Amino acid sequence: MTTNEHNIAPPYVEQAEIRRQCSLCDAIEQKLFSMGFSEANRPGYFIQTFGCQQNEADSERMAGLAWRMGYRPVATPAAAQLILVNTCAIREHAEKKALSIIGTYKHIKEASAHVIIGVGGCMVTQKHRADQLKNSYPYVDFAFDTGALHLLPELIYHAMTGGRRQFVSSDTYAVAEGLPSHREKPFKAWLSIMYGCNNFCSYCIVPYVRGRERSRRPEAILEEARRLIAEGAKDITLLGQNVNSYGKDIGSVDIASLMRQICALPGDFRLRFMTSHPKDASDALIAAMAEEEKIVPHFHLPVQSGSDEVLRRMNRRYSAEQYLCIIEKLRRSVPDVSITSDIIVGFPGETQADFQATLDLIKAVRYDAIFSFIYSPRKGTPAAAMDGQIPKEISSQRFQRLLSLQQEISRERNQRFVGRTVRALCEEVSKTDPGKMTARGDSPRPIHFADTGARIGEYCDLKIVSADTFSLYGELQEKKNGA
Ligand code: SAH
Ligand code: SF4
Ligand code: F3S
Repeated sequence: MTTNEHNIAPPYVEQAEIRRQCSLCDAIEQKLFSMGFSEANRPGYFIQTFGCQQNEADSERMAGLAWRMGYRPVATPAAAQLILVNTCAIREHAEKKALSIIGTYKHIKEASAHVIIGVGGCMVTQKHRADQLKNSYPYVDFAFDTGALHLLPELIYHAMTGGRRQFVSSDTYAVAEGLPSHREKPFKAWLSIMYGCNNFCSYCIVPYVRGRERSRRPEAILEEARRLIAEGAKDITLLGQNVNSYGKDIGSVDIASLMRQICALPGDFRLRFMTSHPKDASDALIAAMAEEEKIVPHFHLPVQSGSDEVLRRMNRRYSAEQYLCIIEKLRRSVPDVSITSDIIVGFPGETQADFQATLDLIKAVRYDAIFSFIYSPRKGTPAAAMDGQIPKEISSQRFQRLLSLQQEISRERNQRFVGRTVRALCEEVSKTDPGKMTARGDSPRPIHFADTGARIGEYCDLKIVSADTFSLYGELQEKKNGA
């Protein structure tokens, strides 16, 4: 097993290389313009993103590069001259979905041969998947792994100028600073503070497809945070596979001190972070959450299982009791904290008693919400070779039981907000009711309220009048001046 190696600076992509890629962006723009496109008539790009927030953040950088090359976003792949797919490998379902979508692009390429199709992300970082794309998806022009995102301009230029298909894998997983980025909502921002994972949980593909933990330099993060705030970001989420081990590879900074430095920046914004590993959930981080008003009191602290034996075989390196101690400490310091978790059901060898221990832990913690997953064997991970793989019917039954228990708890937990007036960021028109808006406050649950003039991207005060399992319902209160 690999453990954290302290104070070894991560590799950084040379700024000269970033400048080279940017000059290729200019060359691509020239080429597009020579093909009849113009500033007013840009060709379209379409990015299909699978997976977690890290991938969403990476897709924003792909979008930033595409914009820099002279493309503009379009709503469908059929309308695009450049199609990029950012894939995920966390479960089999994610891979199947990506492959089936990529399959549908065959017709687009047949209809217009000059359309460029590229595939990046975690799925293609696995050699067997890159080979599969190479051999069975001849209309894919290039693939690039998670460490080679900054090479996108080179790959596109190469495809445009009739070069051979490229399948790039980076062996260094270097940190690339200074790439442009394009966000859909200016008020909501992902901010990657580190990449990779050293934990090697026995079921998980992430360490194999995202490399070892690399922390960005705090100055670069602060500079980006300042820029985001200046551009109107009001809700910033710090991202990493294991954010609370931030800084261990560079020394002299940790997640708590980084968050305090960001909170000290002037501006009306809230700060979130994800995801945390319980073994690194430090007192300093809990104290920062208790003391800093800008940090949203929400802790996503995945437990995965309530059984010590399963946790041991998962290589999680804590017991259920240790986990419960952290929860107790957290609730003592931040009494109204919202706590959410990830749970895997049907891990190899999970007995009925192990599963019962998970249900017991859920009852003890009383989470606000849980993301639960049926275990999916991942090629090359230790758990995939373990004895006692659980039949699908049993996993599905357990999954359903877990879901109904959690739904009952969520419904009860959400009631605590009823009667309170909360400050929330108005994010979008409700997906299910165009007469309503959806906002987000401190609770992980969306708040729906009748649209009486609150504007998207602004804070508003909402009186919570009711709550169910998945949502809160509010009434707009008089808006604060300047909110
Ligand atoms: N770094 C984060 C999240 C990683 S992936 C963490 O450590 O919590 C998000 C979630 O996917 C995990 O928390 C886990 O619950 C789930 N997951 C990971 N690998 C899985 C697998 N092979 N099968 C099913 N769920 C999985
Ligand atoms: Fe995967 Fe998270 Fe474990 Fe890392 S800490 S191996 S990302 S589940
Ligand atoms: Fe998927 Fe990669 Fe994220 S495997 S969950 S996109 S880190």
